[in-house]
Amino acid sequence: MEVKEKKVVSDQTIPYYLYTDPNVLKVEQEKIFAKSWQFVGHISQLANQGDYFTCEVAGEPIIVVRGKDEEIRAFYNVCPHRATKLEKKEEGNKKILQCGYHGWTFNLDGSLHKAPNFKDVPNFCSGSACLRSVRVETEASLIFVNLDESAKPLAESYGDFFEELKRFEFLGELKKVRQKTRVIKANWKAFIDNYLECDHCPISHPALVATLDMNNYKIITCENYSIQGTAVKPNKQVGSVELDKAEMQGGRFYWLWPNLMVTIYPGPGNMSLIQMIPIDHETTLGVYTYFFRDENLTKEELDLIKFMEQVRDEDVELVELEQIGFRSRAFMKGVFSPTENGVVQFHDMIREVLEIEE
Ligand code: FES
Ligand SMILES: [Fe+2]
Repeated sequence: MEVKEKKVVSDQTIPYYLYTDPNVLKVEQEKIFAKSWQFVGHISQLANQGDYFTCEVAGEPIIVVRGKDEEIRAFYNVCPHRATKLEKKEEGNKKILQCGYHGWTFNLDGSLHKAPNFKDVPNFCSGSACLRSVRVETEASLIFVNLDESAKPLAESYGDFFEELKRFEFLGELKKVRQKTRVIKANWKAFIDNYLECDHCPISHPALVATLDMNNYKIITCENYSIQGTAVKPNKQVGSVELDKAEMQGGRFYWLWPNLMVTIYPGPGNMSLIQMIPIDHETTLGVYTYFFRDENLTKEELDLIKFMEQVRDEDVELVELEQIGFRSRAFMKGVFSPTENGVVQFHDMIREVLEIEE
């Protein structure tokens, strides 16, 4: 893997109160989620002019829409008249956006179209009552928004990640075909910690280690992201994929600061995304999105989803048990093994942003 490596150093975890204190999550929403690029959707969801989807970023309602000029724009999904949430549906196609309260309408570029209760106010609709826009950028067919107006552009925020992703030539052909959510009874960081090391794999993921060559498993920390990967053992399959037909031989597991995980398994063009979105300080919404070439999945692809879901369930059980211990007075923090460098990087970033001194 030819990527720019960034070495990490600590040998102790962040303190456990960061996983159990509701005030910590409030600070994280401001300093982490409202200041980082957050994945919100795939380009295949905005194929036509007027296509839109709604989402939440750092607790804020957001709408992303493809305009009549083909431009993709994002706005706070909030009416400038009196704050009503504008679009209620998760996705759809509109020529014009309309608020359901007093009927203000907006063009797809966010400008005010009509304000019926202001029709006798001269020049009101040419005024500045527009939707409030949000930074939005697309790389590798993935759409991200950032609530921080002064954030670095997306591609520059993750070192050479989007260059690295170009090795998968099929990414532009993929479509979002399935999305599942799961409420996890653990702090969002516990799942990220879990994803960022594979010391637990031999104990907890028998099917995964039966398939992957764990002796050559590598974790490489890079600028604001990391890569894990290895080759598949000879004569093994992932799900029911025969590897001589696979487009790549080893799986790749990427993590992007702070809460996005991108997994590409060997086999026919595939990508799965995992996002960990905090519901509260001890509850997290896991959003699992699967991308394949076609909505009609083959048996191989269905088997791959089943395989990924088994690994996911094994991980959820672990982090829910970990959350019980985070609440205990038994220990205040934990230690890292030499092969947990991916978690070290994440914890160093958390310490820096939250200004934790120990
Ligand atoms: S709150 Fe939207 S039109 Fe009044
Ligand atoms: Fe795991």
